[in-house]
Amino acid sequence: MSDNQHLEHMEHDRGTWGSNFGFLMAAVGSAVGLGNIWGFPYKMGSKGGFAFLIIYLLLVIFVGVVVMLGELTIGRKTGKGAVGAYAALSKKYKWVGYLGILSAFTLLAFYNVLGGLVMRYMFGFLLQIMGVDGFSGAGMGFFGYILYDYSGMIFFHVLFIVCNVVIVMGGIQGGIEKFCTVAMPALFFMLLFVIIYVAFQPGAGEGYKFMLTPNFEPLSSFGGFIDVLKTAAGQMFFSLSLGMGAIISYGSYLDKKEDLQKNSLIIPACDTLIAVMAACAILPACAAFNMEYAQGPGLLFNTMQNVFLSMGSFGNFVGFMFYFLVFIAAVTSSISLFEAIVTWRLDVGIEKKQKVSRTKIMSIAAVCAFIVGIPVALDALGAADAVVKAPYLLLGMTPEQLAAGQVPMAIDCWLDFFDVISEGIFMPLGALIMAVLIGWKWKTRNLIVPECEISGHKFWGYTFFDICFKFITPIGMILVLGGQIYDFFIKALIA
Ligand code: PFF
Repeated sequence: MSDNQHLEHMEHDRGTWGSNFGFLMAAVGSAVGLGNIWGFPYKMGSKGGFAFLIIYLLLVIFVGVVVMLGELTIGRKTGKGAVGAYAALSKKYKWVGYLGILSAFTLLAFYNVLGGLVMRYMFGFLLQIMGVDGFSGAGMGFFGYILYDYSGMIFFHVLFIVCNVVIVMGGIQGGIEKFCTVAMPALFFMLLFVIIYVAFQPGAGEGYKFMLTPNFEPLSSFGGFIDVLKTAAGQMFFSLSLGMGAIISYGSYLDKKEDLQKNSLIIPACDTLIAVMAACAILPACAAFNMEYAQGPGLLFNTMQNVFLSMGSFGNFVGFMFYFLVFIAAVTSSISLFEAIVTWRLDVGIEKKQKVSRTKIMSIAAVCAFIVGIPVALDALGAADAVVKAPYLLLGMTPEQLAAGQVPMAIDCWLDFFDVISEGIFMPLGALIMAVLIGWKWKTRNLIVPECEISGHKFWGYTFFDICFKFITPIGMILVLGGQIYDFFIKALIA
Protein backbone atom coordinates (compact mmCIF):
# COMPACT_ATOMS: atom_id res chain seq x y z
CA MET A 1 0.00 0.00 0.00
CA SER A 2 1.43 3.42 -0.89
CA ASP A 3 1.84 6.08 1.76
CA ASN A 4 -1.03 8.08 0.36
CA GLN A 5 -3.34 5.06 0.31
CA HIS A 6 -2.27 4.45 3.87
CA LEU A 7 -3.57 7.89 4.80
CA GLU A 8 -7.12 6.90 3.87
CA HIS A 9 -7.34 4.00 6.27
CA MET A 10 -7.12 5.45 9.70
CA GLU A 11 -9.72 5.87 12.36
CA HIS A 12 -10.04 7.01 15.91
CA ASP A 13 -11.02 4.58 18.63
CA ARG A 14 -9.90 6.21 21.88
CA GLY A 15 -12.38 8.91 22.86
CA THR A 16 -12.20 12.66 22.29
CA TRP A 17 -12.14 15.98 24.08
CA GLY A 18 -15.51 17.12 25.46
CA SER A 19 -15.52 20.36 23.45
CA ASN A 20 -13.27 22.41 21.22
CA PHE A 21 -12.98 24.96 24.03
CA GLY A 22 -11.78 22.22 26.36
CA PHE A 23 -9.25 21.07 23.78
CA LEU A 24 -8.07 24.64 23.24
CA MET A 25 -7.63 25.23 26.94
CA ALA A 26 -5.63 22.01 27.24
CA ALA A 27 -3.48 22.82 24.20
CA VAL A 28 -2.98 26.42 25.31
CA GLY A 29 -2.28 24.98 28.77
CA SER A 30 0.41 22.80 27.26
CA ALA A 31 1.93 25.72 25.40
CA VAL A 32 1.72 28.29 28.17
CA GLY A 33 4.15 27.28 30.88
CA LEU A 34 7.53 27.97 32.37
CA GLY A 35 8.71 28.68 28.84
CA ASN A 36 6.52 31.78 28.78
CA ILE A 37 6.88 33.02 32.32
CA TRP A 38 10.39 31.88 33.20
CA GLY A 39 12.11 31.43 29.81
CA PHE A 40 10.78 34.16 27.53
CA PRO A 41 11.51 37.17 29.78
CA TYR A 42 15.04 36.04 30.60
CA LYS A 43 15.91 35.21 26.99
CA MET A 44 14.44 38.49 25.81
CA GLY A 45 16.34 40.23 28.61
CA SER A 46 19.68 38.72 27.61
CA LYS A 47 19.30 38.69 23.81
CA GLY A 48 18.59 42.26 22.92
CA GLY A 49 15.00 43.01 23.96
CA PHE A 50 13.17 44.41 20.95
CA ALA A 51 15.25 42.61 18.30
CA PHE A 52 14.55 39.28 20.01
CA LEU A 53 10.84 40.06 20.12
CA ILE A 54 10.65 40.73 16.37
CA ILE A 55 12.59 37.59 15.39
CA TYR A 56 10.46 35.57 17.79
CA LEU A 57 7.23 36.85 16.26
CA LEU A 58 8.43 36.07 12.73
CA LEU A 59 9.38 32.55 13.81
CA VAL A 60 5.98 31.98 15.39
CA ILE A 61 4.26 32.96 12.13
CA PHE A 62 6.50 31.14 9.64
CA VAL A 63 7.46 28.10 11.66
CA GLY A 64 5.36 27.82 14.83
CA VAL A 65 1.93 28.02 13.22
CA VAL A 66 3.05 25.70 10.41
CA VAL A 67 4.51 22.99 12.63
CA MET A 68 1.50 23.31 14.93
CA LEU A 69 -0.84 22.61 12.01
CA GLY A 70 1.37 19.72 10.90
CA GLU A 71 1.33 18.10 14.35
CA LEU A 72 -2.40 18.61 14.93
CA THR A 73 -3.18 17.15 11.52
CA ILE A 74 -0.91 14.14 11.90
CA GLY A 75 -2.41 13.43 15.32
CA ARG A 76 -6.03 13.74 14.29
CA LYS A 77 -5.62 12.01 10.94
CA THR A 78 -4.09 8.92 12.49
CA GLY A 79 -5.82 9.09 15.87
CA LYS A 80 -2.51 8.14 17.46
CA GLY A 81 0.29 9.56 19.60
CA ALA A 82 3.66 10.44 18.04
CA VAL A 83 5.10 6.96 17.47
CA GLY A 84 1.85 5.40 16.26
CA ALA A 85 1.14 8.41 14.06
CA TYR A 86 4.45 8.35 12.19
CA ALA A 87 4.26 4.57 11.90
CA ALA A 88 0.73 4.82 10.49
CA LEU A 89 1.80 7.38 7.90
CA SER A 90 4.87 5.45 6.88
CA LYS A 91 6.52 2.56 8.75
CA LYS A 92 9.96 3.84 7.76
CA TYR A 93 9.51 7.00 9.82
CA LYS A 94 8.37 5.49 13.09
CA TRP A 95 11.73 6.55 14.58
CA VAL A 96 10.75 10.21 14.21
CA GLY A 97 7.97 9.49 16.70
CA TYR A 98 10.47 7.92 19.08
CA LEU A 99 12.56 11.07 18.79
CA GLY A 100 9.53 12.93 20.14
CA ILE A 101 9.16 10.56 23.10
CA LEU A 102 12.85 10.86 23.87
CA SER A 103 12.60 14.65 23.84
CA ALA A 104 9.60 14.47 26.15
CA PHE A 105 11.72 12.56 28.67
CA THR A 106 14.70 14.92 28.39
CA LEU A 107 12.42 17.86 28.88
CA LEU A 108 10.64 16.32 31.85
CA ALA A 109 14.04 15.77 33.46
CA PHE A 110 14.38 19.46 34.20
CA TYR A 111 10.81 20.69 33.85
CA ASN A 112 9.64 18.87 36.96
CA VAL A 113 12.55 20.24 38.97
CA LEU A 114 11.69 23.80 37.92
CA GLY A 115 8.02 23.08 38.68
CA GLY A 116 9.14 21.96 42.13
CA LEU A 117 11.08 25.20 42.61
CA VAL A 118 7.97 27.15 41.76
CA MET A 119 6.02 25.16 44.34
CA ARG A 120 8.72 25.88 46.91
CA TYR A 121 8.30 29.62 46.39
CA MET A 122 4.53 29.24 46.51
CA PHE A 123 4.74 27.44 49.86
CA GLY A 124 7.25 30.01 51.07
CA PHE A 125 4.74 32.79 50.58
CA LEU A 126 1.96 30.70 52.06
CA LEU A 127 4.03 30.27 55.21
CA GLN A 128 4.75 34.00 55.24
CA ILE A 129 1.01 34.70 55.11
CA MET A 130 0.67 32.50 58.19
CA GLY A 131 3.33 34.53 59.96
CA VAL A 132 6.18 32.01 59.60
CA ASP A 133 9.46 32.79 57.79
CA GLY A 134 8.88 30.91 54.54
CA PHE A 135 12.33 31.61 53.13
CA SER A 136 14.53 30.19 55.87
CA GLY A 137 16.05 33.55 56.72
CA ALA A 138 17.50 33.84 53.21
CA GLY A 139 14.99 36.48 52.02
CA MET A 140 16.03 37.88 48.67
CA GLY A 141 18.96 35.47 48.44
CA PHE A 142 16.59 32.53 48.63
CA PHE A 143 17.34 31.30 45.11
CA GLY A 144 20.99 30.71 46.00
CA TYR A 145 19.99 29.11 49.28
CA ILE A 146 17.40 26.68 47.97
CA LEU A 147 19.73 25.15 45.36
CA TYR A 148 21.72 23.67 48.25
CA ASP A 149 18.65 22.58 50.21
CA TYR A 150 18.82 19.09 48.73
CA SER A 151 16.01 17.48 50.69
CA GLY A 152 13.78 20.45 49.81
CA MET A 153 14.70 20.15 46.12
CA ILE A 154 13.83 16.45 46.09
CA PHE A 155 10.68 16.87 48.15
CA PHE A 156 9.20 19.52 45.84
CA HIS A 157 10.38 17.67 42.74
CA VAL A 158 8.37 14.67 43.93
CA LEU A 159 5.39 16.79 44.94
CA PHE A 160 5.23 18.37 41.50
CA ILE A 161 5.34 14.96 39.82
CA VAL A 162 2.58 13.69 42.11
CA CYS A 163 0.32 16.57 40.98
CA ASN A 164 0.91 15.46 37.40
CA VAL A 165 0.09 11.86 38.21
CA VAL A 166 -3.23 12.79 39.79
CA ILE A 167 -4.35 14.89 36.81
CA VAL A 168 -3.18 12.58 34.02
CA MET A 169 -4.69 9.54 35.72
CA GLY A 170 -8.04 11.35 35.53
CA GLY A 171 -7.87 10.86 31.75
CA ILE A 172 -8.48 13.24 28.87
CA GLN A 173 -11.90 14.71 29.67
CA GLY A 174 -12.12 14.07 33.40
CA GLY A 175 -8.54 15.06 34.20
CA ILE A 176 -6.68 17.22 31.73
CA GLU A 177 -9.61 19.05 30.10
CA LYS A 178 -11.44 19.71 33.34
CA PHE A 179 -8.36 21.12 35.05
CA CYS A 180 -7.24 23.30 32.15
CA THR A 181 -10.67 24.79 31.49
CA VAL A 182 -10.60 26.44 34.90
CA ALA A 183 -6.87 26.94 35.27
CA MET A 184 -6.07 28.75 32.03
CA PRO A 185 -8.56 31.63 32.30
CA ALA A 186 -7.56 32.01 35.98
CA LEU A 187 -3.95 32.29 34.95
CA PHE A 188 -4.71 35.01 32.43
CA PHE A 189 -6.48 37.22 34.97
CA MET A 190 -3.86 36.73 37.67
CA LEU A 191 -1.11 37.71 35.26
CA LEU A 192 -3.06 40.80 34.27
CA PHE A 193 -3.26 41.78 37.92
CA VAL A 194 0.51 41.46 38.42
CA ILE A 195 1.16 43.52 35.25
CA ILE A 196 -1.05 46.33 36.48
CA TYR A 197 0.60 46.30 39.89
CA VAL A 198 4.10 46.45 38.40
CA ALA A 199 3.08 49.24 35.99
CA PHE A 200 2.48 51.52 38.97
CA GLN A 201 5.95 51.02 40.42
CA PRO A 202 8.29 54.01 40.00
CA GLY A 203 10.94 53.31 37.37
CA ALA A 204 8.94 50.59 35.59
CA GLY A 205 8.80 52.70 32.42
CA GLU A 206 12.46 51.89 31.60
CA GLY A 207 11.48 48.24 31.26
CA TYR A 208 8.85 49.00 28.61
CA LYS A 209 11.39 51.16 26.78
CA PHE A 210 13.85 48.25 26.74
CA MET A 211 11.17 45.97 25.31
CA LEU A 212 9.65 48.29 22.76
CA THR A 213 12.26 50.78 21.53
CA PRO A 214 13.31 49.59 18.06
CA ASN A 215 16.94 48.52 18.35
CA PHE A 216 18.37 46.22 15.70
CA GLU A 217 21.94 46.46 16.91
CA PRO A 218 22.01 42.81 18.10
CA LEU A 219 21.19 41.73 14.51
CA SER A 220 23.80 43.84 12.76
CA SER A 221 26.30 41.01 12.13
CA PHE A 222 25.60 37.53 10.72
CA GLY A 223 26.87 35.92 13.92
CA GLY A 224 24.64 38.19 16.01
CA PHE A 225 21.65 37.39 13.84
CA ILE A 226 22.19 33.63 14.11
CA ASP A 227 22.65 33.96 17.85
CA VAL A 228 19.31 35.72 18.29
CA LEU A 229 17.63 33.44 15.71
CA LYS A 230 18.66 30.21 17.37
CA THR A 231 17.79 31.38 20.87
CA ALA A 232 14.40 32.63 19.69
CA ALA A 233 13.78 29.40 17.75
CA GLY A 234 14.66 27.14 20.66
CA GLN A 235 12.42 29.23 22.84
CA MET A 236 9.60 29.08 20.31
CA PHE A 237 9.63 25.27 20.05
CA PHE A 238 9.76 24.94 23.77
CA SER A 239 7.05 27.51 24.29
CA LEU A 240 4.65 26.10 21.71
CA SER A 241 5.23 22.51 22.88
CA LEU A 242 6.30 21.49 19.40
CA GLY A 243 8.55 18.71 18.21
CA MET A 244 7.87 16.18 20.94
CA GLY A 245 4.61 14.47 20.42
CA ALA A 246 2.57 16.45 22.94
CA ILE A 247 0.54 18.30 20.32
CA ILE A 248 0.29 15.17 18.14
CA SER A 249 -1.20 13.34 21.14
CA TYR A 250 -3.63 16.14 21.95
CA GLY A 251 -4.61 16.30 18.26
CA SER A 252 -5.29 12.57 18.31
CA TYR A 253 -8.16 13.10 20.77
CA LEU A 254 -9.71 15.88 18.68
CA ASP A 255 -13.07 15.43 17.00
CA LYS A 256 -13.28 15.44 13.20
CA LYS A 257 -15.70 18.35 13.22
CA GLU A 258 -13.17 20.79 14.69
CA ASP A 259 -11.36 23.34 12.54
CA LEU A 260 -7.66 22.47 12.64
CA GLN A 261 -6.51 25.52 10.75
CA LYS A 262 -8.20 27.89 13.18
CA ASN A 263 -6.86 26.02 16.19
CA SER A 264 -3.34 26.14 14.79
CA LEU A 265 -3.58 29.92 14.80
CA ILE A 266 -5.31 30.38 18.15
CA ILE A 267 -2.84 28.29 20.17
CA PRO A 268 0.32 30.18 19.08
CA ALA A 269 -1.53 33.51 19.39
CA CYS A 270 -2.54 32.82 23.01
CA ASP A 271 0.89 31.47 23.85
CA THR A 272 2.65 34.51 22.43
CA LEU A 273 0.26 36.85 24.19
CA ILE A 274 1.03 35.26 27.55
CA ALA A 275 4.80 35.30 26.90
CA VAL A 276 4.68 39.00 26.06
CA MET A 277 2.47 39.62 29.10
CA ALA A 278 4.97 37.83 31.33
CA ALA A 279 7.76 39.98 29.91
CA CYS A 280 5.57 43.05 30.57
CA ALA A 281 5.43 42.02 34.22
CA ILE A 282 9.01 40.93 34.79
CA LEU A 283 11.20 43.30 32.76
CA PRO A 284 9.54 46.49 34.09
CA ALA A 285 9.79 44.98 37.58
CA CYS A 286 13.49 44.53 36.93
CA ALA A 287 13.79 48.17 35.93
CA ALA A 288 11.83 49.34 38.97
CA PHE A 289 14.04 47.36 41.34
CA ASN A 290 17.35 48.18 39.66
CA MET A 291 18.14 44.66 38.60
CA GLU A 292 19.95 43.29 35.55
CA TYR A 293 17.79 42.26 32.57
CA ALA A 294 20.46 39.79 31.47
CA GLN A 295 20.61 37.71 34.65
CA GLY A 296 19.79 34.44 32.96
CA PRO A 297 17.68 31.63 34.44
CA GLY A 298 17.42 33.19 37.92
CA LEU A 299 15.62 36.27 36.53
CA LEU A 300 12.07 35.23 37.35
CA PHE A 301 12.87 34.05 40.86
CA ASN A 302 15.24 36.86 41.85
CA THR A 303 13.29 39.73 40.37
CA MET A 304 9.90 38.72 41.62
CA GLN A 305 11.26 37.96 45.07
CA ASN A 306 12.39 41.58 45.28
CA VAL A 307 9.05 42.81 44.09
CA PHE A 308 7.01 40.80 46.57
CA LEU A 309 9.21 41.21 49.61
CA SER A 310 9.27 44.96 49.05
CA MET A 311 5.49 45.10 49.29
CA GLY A 312 5.40 44.14 52.94
CA SER A 313 2.71 41.78 54.14
CA PHE A 314 0.50 42.44 51.10
CA GLY A 315 3.41 41.12 49.02
CA ASN A 316 3.08 37.74 50.68
CA PHE A 317 -0.40 37.43 49.33
CA VAL A 318 0.51 38.67 45.83
CA GLY A 319 3.60 36.45 45.83
CA PHE A 320 1.52 33.43 46.69
CA MET A 321 -0.99 34.21 43.94
CA PHE A 322 1.80 34.78 41.43
CA TYR A 323 3.59 31.51 42.11
CA PHE A 324 0.27 29.73 42.19
CA LEU A 325 -0.33 30.96 38.66
CA VAL A 326 3.15 29.94 37.54
CA PHE A 327 2.51 26.55 39.10
CA ILE A 328 -0.74 26.21 37.14
CA ALA A 329 1.07 27.18 33.95
CA ALA A 330 3.81 24.64 34.65
CA VAL A 331 1.56 21.74 35.55
CA THR A 332 -0.75 22.18 32.54
CA SER A 333 2.42 21.89 30.42
CA SER A 334 4.07 18.97 32.13
CA ILE A 335 0.87 16.92 31.98
CA SER A 336 1.02 17.20 28.20
CA LEU A 337 4.58 15.88 28.22
CA PHE A 338 3.46 12.95 30.33
CA GLU A 339 0.44 12.52 28.09
CA ALA A 340 2.71 12.20 25.04
CA ILE A 341 4.34 9.22 26.75
CA VAL A 342 1.08 7.78 28.09
CA THR A 343 -0.65 8.03 24.69
CA TRP A 344 2.24 6.21 23.05
CA ARG A 345 2.01 3.28 25.49
CA LEU A 346 -1.79 3.21 25.32
CA ASP A 347 -1.59 2.96 21.53
CA VAL A 348 0.86 0.08 21.75
CA GLY A 349 -1.48 -1.73 24.14
CA ILE A 350 -4.55 -1.10 22.00
CA GLU A 351 -2.75 -2.31 18.90
CA LYS A 352 -1.63 -5.49 20.60
CA LYS A 353 -5.12 -5.95 22.06
CA GLN A 354 -3.68 -5.98 25.57
CA LYS A 355 -5.46 -4.65 28.64
CA VAL A 356 -3.94 -1.24 29.17
CA SER A 357 -4.08 0.81 32.33
CA ARG A 358 -3.56 4.59 32.15
CA THR A 359 -2.78 4.57 35.88
CA LYS A 360 -0.03 1.99 35.56
CA ILE A 361 1.55 3.64 32.52
CA MET A 362 1.50 7.04 34.17
CA SER A 363 3.01 5.69 37.38
CA ILE A 364 5.91 4.10 35.53
CA ALA A 365 6.47 7.28 33.49
CA ALA A 366 6.45 9.32 36.71
CA VAL A 367 9.09 7.13 38.36
CA CYS A 368 11.31 7.31 35.26
CA ALA A 369 10.90 11.09 35.08
CA PHE A 370 11.81 11.37 38.75
CA ILE A 371 14.99 9.36 38.28
CA VAL A 372 16.26 11.37 35.30
CA GLY A 373 15.47 14.58 37.18
CA ILE A 374 17.62 13.73 40.22
CA PRO A 375 20.94 15.15 38.90
CA VAL A 376 19.15 18.34 37.85
CA ALA A 377 17.72 18.73 41.35
CA LEU A 378 21.01 18.12 43.12
CA ASP A 379 23.80 19.80 41.13
CA ALA A 380 23.04 23.37 42.36
CA LEU A 381 23.05 24.53 38.72
CA GLY A 382 26.56 23.26 38.17
CA ALA A 383 28.27 24.57 41.33
CA ALA A 384 31.56 22.79 42.00
CA ASP A 385 30.71 22.06 45.63
CA ALA A 386 27.29 20.51 44.98
CA VAL A 387 26.54 16.94 45.99
CA VAL A 388 25.98 15.83 42.38
CA LYS A 389 28.69 16.95 39.98
CA ALA A 390 27.83 18.78 36.78
CA PRO A 391 28.76 17.05 33.50
CA TYR A 392 31.81 19.28 32.88
CA LEU A 393 33.26 18.35 36.28
CA LEU A 394 32.65 14.68 35.61
CA LEU A 395 34.54 15.10 32.34
CA GLY A 396 37.55 16.50 34.19
CA MET A 397 37.09 20.18 33.34
CA THR A 398 37.50 22.79 36.06
CA PRO A 399 35.46 25.70 37.49
CA GLU A 400 38.25 28.01 36.26
CA GLN A 401 37.65 26.83 32.71
CA LEU A 402 33.94 27.47 33.25
CA ALA A 403 34.62 31.02 34.41
CA ALA A 404 36.87 31.57 31.38
CA GLY A 405 34.02 30.55 29.02
CA GLN A 406 35.79 27.37 27.87
CA VAL A 407 33.06 24.95 28.94
CA PRO A 408 30.37 24.26 26.31
CA MET A 409 26.92 25.28 27.51
CA ALA A 410 25.69 21.74 26.88
CA ILE A 411 27.71 20.45 29.83
CA ASP A 412 27.86 23.35 32.30
CA CYS A 413 25.06 21.90 34.44
CA TRP A 414 22.52 19.10 34.17
CA LEU A 415 19.63 21.50 33.48
CA ASP A 416 21.43 22.94 30.45
CA PHE A 417 22.48 19.47 29.35
CA PHE A 418 18.88 18.27 29.09
CA ASP A 419 17.62 21.63 27.85
CA VAL A 420 20.19 21.80 25.05
CA ILE A 421 19.46 18.27 23.91
CA SER A 422 15.70 18.78 23.79
CA GLU A 423 15.19 22.43 22.93
CA GLY A 424 18.42 22.85 20.98
CA ILE A 425 18.59 19.62 18.99
CA PHE A 426 15.65 17.21 19.16
CA MET A 427 12.86 19.76 18.76
CA PRO A 428 14.22 21.59 15.68
CA LEU A 429 15.38 18.27 14.22
CA GLY A 430 11.90 16.79 14.66
CA ALA A 431 10.35 19.89 13.09
CA LEU A 432 12.80 19.78 10.18
CA ILE A 433 12.03 16.15 9.41
CA MET A 434 8.30 16.68 9.77
CA ALA A 435 8.28 19.73 7.49
CA VAL A 436 10.31 17.91 4.82
CA LEU A 437 8.08 14.83 5.01
CA ILE A 438 4.89 16.87 4.74
CA GLY A 439 6.21 19.31 2.15
CA TRP A 440 7.95 16.84 -0.14
CA LYS A 441 6.75 13.30 0.55
CA TRP A 442 3.25 13.19 1.98
CA LYS A 443 2.42 16.58 0.42
CA THR A 444 0.40 19.44 1.88
CA ARG A 445 -2.29 18.77 -0.74
CA ASN A 446 -2.69 15.08 0.12
CA LEU A 447 -2.21 15.07 3.88
CA ILE A 448 -3.05 18.48 5.33
CA VAL A 449 -5.82 19.79 3.06
CA PRO A 450 -8.18 16.76 3.14
CA GLU A 451 -7.86 16.30 6.90
CA CYS A 452 -8.51 19.99 7.55
CA GLU A 453 -11.47 20.09 5.19
CA ILE A 454 -13.20 17.07 6.79
CA SER A 455 -14.70 19.49 9.30
CA GLY A 456 -16.41 21.36 6.42
CA HIS A 457 -14.10 24.39 6.74
CA LYS A 458 -12.33 25.55 3.61
CA PHE A 459 -8.53 25.31 3.75
CA TRP A 460 -7.61 28.88 2.84
CA GLY A 461 -3.89 28.97 3.55
CA TYR A 462 -2.62 26.43 1.01
CA THR A 463 0.07 28.53 -0.67
CA PHE A 464 1.40 29.89 2.62
CA PHE A 465 1.53 26.52 4.36
CA ASP A 466 2.94 24.70 1.36
CA ILE A 467 5.79 27.18 0.90
CA CYS A 468 6.53 27.03 4.62
CA PHE A 469 6.53 23.21 4.77
CA LYS A 470 8.71 22.95 1.68
CA PHE A 471 11.19 25.80 2.14
CA ILE A 472 10.90 28.29 4.98
CA THR A 473 10.66 25.87 7.90
CA PRO A 474 13.40 23.49 6.65
CA ILE A 475 15.83 26.31 5.83
CA GLY A 476 15.13 28.05 9.12
CA MET A 477 15.66 24.80 11.02
CA ILE A 478 18.95 24.03 9.28
CA LEU A 479 20.26 27.48 10.28
CA VAL A 480 19.01 26.97 13.80
CA LEU A 481 20.52 23.50 14.16
CA GLY A 482 23.87 24.69 12.82
CA GLY A 483 23.82 27.65 15.22
CA GLN A 484 22.85 25.50 18.19
CA ILE A 485 25.45 22.82 17.58
CA TYR A 486 28.18 25.42 17.15
CA ASP A 487 27.17 27.41 20.19
CA PHE A 488 26.36 24.64 22.62
CA PHE A 489 29.13 22.20 21.79
CA ILE A 490 31.91 23.73 19.70
CA LYS A 491 32.34 27.46 20.44
CA ALA A 492 33.75 27.08 23.94
CA LEU A 493 36.18 24.38 22.86
CA ILE A 494 37.84 26.62 20.28
CA ALA A 495 37.77 29.69 22.58
N1 PFF B 1 5.36 24.73 26.32
C1 PFF B 1 5.81 24.51 27.67
C2 PFF B 1 6.31 25.81 28.25
O1 PFF B 1 6.32 26.84 27.56
O2 PFF B 1 6.70 25.81 29.39
C3 PFF B 1 6.85 23.43 27.76
C4 PFF B 1 6.52 22.21 27.00
C5 PFF B 1 5.39 21.44 27.31
C6 PFF B 1 7.29 21.84 25.92
C7 PFF B 1 5.06 20.35 26.57
C8 PFF B 1 6.96 20.74 25.17
C9 PFF B 1 5.85 20.01 25.50
F1 PFF B 1 5.56 18.98 24.80
